[in-house]
Order: sequence, then C-alpha cells, then structure tokens
Amino acid sequence: MATHRFLFLLLVLAVFGGGGLNQRESAIIKLPTEKEEPAEEVGNKMGCSSGWIIWADVCHAYQLLRKGGLKEENIVVFMYDDIAMNELNPRPGVIINHPQGENVYAGVPKDYTGKHVTTKNLYAVLLGNKSAVKGGSGKVVNSKPNDRIFLYYSDHGGPGVLGMPNMPYLYAMEFMEVLKKKHASKGYKEMVLYIEACESGSIFEGIMPKDLDIYVTTASNAQESSFGTYCPGMDPSPPPEYITCLGDLYSVAWMEDSETHNLKRETIKQQYNSVKERTSNFNTYSAGSHVMQYGNTSMITEKLYLYQGFDPATENFPPNELWSDTQMGVVNQRDADLLFMWHMVRLASFMPLKYKKADGSGEKSQILDQITETMRHRNHLDGSIEMIGVLLYGPEMGGGILNSVRAPGLPLVDDWQCLKSMVRVFETHCGSLTQYGMKHMRAFANICNSGVSQGSMEEACEATCSGHDREEMAS
Ligand SMILES: *[C@@H]1O[C@H](CO)[C@@H](O)[C@H](O)[C@H]1NC(C)=O
Ligand SMILES: *[C@@H]1O[C@H](CO)[C@@H](O)[C@H](O)[C@H]1NC(C)=O
Repeated sequence: MATHRFLFLLLVLAVFGGGGLNQRESAIIKLPTEKEEPAEEVGNKMGCSSGWIIWADVCHAYQLLRKGGLKEENIVVFMYDDIAMNELNPRPGVIINHPQGENVYAGVPKDYTGKHVTTKNLYAVLLGNKSAVKGGSGKVVNSKPNDRIFLYYSDHGGPGVLGMPNMPYLYAMEFMEVLKKKHASKGYKEMVLYIEACESGSIFEGIMPKDLDIYVTTASNAQESSFGTYCPGMDPSPPPEYITCLGDLYSVAWMEDSETHNLKRETIKQQYNSVKERTSNFNTYSAGSHVMQYGNTSMITEKLYLYQGFDPATENFPPNELWSDTQMGVVNQRDADLLFMWHMVRLASFMPLKYKKADGSGEKSQILDQITETMRHRNHLDGSIEMIGVLLYGPEMGGGILNSVRAPGLPLVDDWQCLKSMVRVFETHCGSLTQYGMKHMRAFANICNSGVSQGSMEEACEATCSGHDREEMAS
C-alpha cells in the first residue's frame, strides 16, 4: 500500500545583517514610491534582494503547510533568522506577510539558520545525507519512493544562480545534478518546486529535464526581476510603522491563493494560472514578472493538497476563482533594498533613539555612510565588468556581448564549469562578487559562450583590477 508522506523544504534566506544594512548588499537608485519628488539617483547599480521579505514569505509558507496538516518533522526550514528580533522590526518577535496578517513567526522551527544556511547543507538535506550535513538540526529529507516533496525557495537570485546568505551561490547545473541524483535513488514519487528570485527562470531554462517527475514554477523568466509587494507608500501598504515591504508578489500570490481555496479540489494548473495572472499585475507586466513553468508539465492536473496539504477549515471554499483584478503596488525586487535604506534614513531623522544601536550604527550619518560604501563597492564591480568587456571585445562590442540574452529555451551558458571558473578568476583579481554581483552572472556566461579562454580572462581581470587591493586597503 502506497504511503503518501509529505515532505517540504522551505528555504529562506534573509540577508540584511544586524542593522539591516549589509554594506556588501546592494541598494538601488530609483525610489519608485517617491511620486512627488523625482526619483533620486543614489548610485547606478542594482542588486536583487528583498531583505526581510524573504523571511516573512518563508514563515508564512511554514504556517500554511502546518495548517494543511503537515507534521513538523516532515518540514525542513532554512532561514537566516535575523529579522524577528532585529531592532528595526517595529513589532519585536513578530513577522507579518500581509498588512492585516497574523504573526507568521510563531513556532517556526530553526532547522538551519545563520552560517548553516549553505548550498552544501541544502544539497545534503535534500539528498537525505545526514553525514554530509554541517550544523543545524540535522533534519534531512529521508524520503521514500512513494513520497511527494514540495520545495519552496525565496531569496536573491541572478542569472544561473540562487543566493545563499553564505557563499558560494547555488549554481543551476549543480542543483540539476542533485535533483537527478535524488531521482536516481528513487527518493520520491513526484516533486513540486516553487521558486521566487530574480531571474529565477534562468535556473531551469534549457536545462530542466522533463523526465524527473518534477514540476517547477518560477516567479520570473530568465531575464527579469521579481517583485516585492505590500511596500511603504504603496497600495496596499503595510501598517504605518513598517519601513519594509512585507512580501514578494509571486509568493503572496500562491500562498493567498492556497489559503482561500479547497486544495482537495484545486489543481496545480488552476493555481499556476491565477498566480501568473496576479504576478503579471494583470497582464500589464510593467510592474510584474512572467511566472514560468518547467519540468514535467503533465503534473499540473494533480490536486494541490498532495503537496501543500489540506486545511479542514477550507472544506467549503471554492476550488478556484480568479483574483479580483485590482492592481497591486509593487517594487522591483532589486529596488527593495534601497527603498528600505531610504526609509531608514528618513526614520532616523525623526526617531533617532528608537532606531539607534549601542554603537551608534542606527544614526542617520552612519546609514548615509553605509549607503555611500555600498555604492562605492557596486561601482567597483560594475565598472570592472564593463572594463573587462572592453578589454575582451573592444569598446564597441563589449557591452553588447556581455548583456546579450539568449533565445528562450536555450540555457544561460553551455559550459557551466566555465561559468564557475570565470567567476573564480574574476574574484581572485577583483574581490568577492557578493550577493550584489549575482546580477553580473550573465556577463560571465556570455564570456564563456563566446569562447574566451581562461588565460585571456585572467589577463583582462588583472589589467582591470590590479589596483583593487590597494584601493580597498586605502579606503
Ligand atoms: C554522504 O556525504 C558524505 C560526505 O560528504 C559522502 O562521503 C557520502 O558519499 C555521501 N553519501 C551518499 C549516499 O551520497
Ligand atoms: C510526466 O508525469 C506524468 C504524470 O505523472 C507521467 O505519466 C509521465 O510519464 C511523466 N512524463 C515523463 C516524461 O516522465
């Protein structure tokens, strides 16, 4: 007799450090919510991050699965865990994912947090290899051939990579190898992945096999950002004391859909369609992204309860109905950081005490310094990549080649090993790419696709960044 044990992996990675401002993290330039004043140019690069939001998304997903009857022992949570008690959280110990939402932080198990949130641990946990796990609760997905697995991921991303709060990134092709290994070991019957990250389509585009019994949806296609929502100054907005967005559009779209329907009747396909609609901001795509699907798309006729469980309270809810078509205010995920910093500066102006840390790092001048440092680091990375393009291809061709996007259906890069080595070469000469640098993965991929040798890349990086260490020390 077949058993249907549900196993879920929730990956959460929140990246803001102590004061909420990690200098290595990216911030942005344009403040989409500042309608009256023209958007202020604080720098000229973007990172793909959404700080606290990720955390709220993941905690919310945990609560949803628990209400669906999943046992805690069958859920594994990865989260950075620096948000609930962060002094900038207006409600200490509480996390909300909706303006009127309840506390989603209560009871969330801390399986893998802080420095244990790594790509290696994720692979070990997914493969059920307890001896390969370092730190954390040691909980692994010890699944059997008849089990179904649901994996929900929310964090920063970039072309071909998903972020982790601890380096290295998760590279798409290595993730595929892990999925194949899990499949080959008959570790599950079927698996569903929901992935929220910028450029998340690039993880699967052109490389996700159809015969692994895995169905995937992603928040965005291979070349666009995903979006945060419930942001300050937008409609709908969070409670007034919040200075961050509360959720990501794709994530809240699937979770709010699940909570308002009978999952024994709703199919994966119905949810996909309604989430796609809502995430596109009702087909405007001006502020919204393209939800994509990959893998075995025949699985979409299955009912959602097989993966997300069933909450008896939803017994009389409809199987599905499309979201009312009110548009949601959203912010490009890549802008969410800057929005947050900007609100911090403003808050610090009139509430210095509440937001001040013992070391004074909550002060307005400190925050401004951090913004400056963030921008300096970004400019260094962006300028270096641009220069390397010029050195490799000449001033006319450089930018075009580095930024070119391959046709849909083609993978980001043909040789993923090359991609990793080019990144390594760059980092050796120019310093760590950091989370922000994920946005440049397409440039490295195109360098590989154009057949540049590692030797030429070495030379270009050396020429571009030979003064880098000196500058870093001087600053
Ligand atoms: C589990 O991980 C250990 C340590 O990385 C490795 O030596 C071993 O081969 C792995 N076991 C399986 C079944 O993959
Ligand atoms: C896709 O999934 C369906 C339904 O589970 C299954 O019948 C079919 O064999 C799968 N296709 C492939 C290529 O594995």
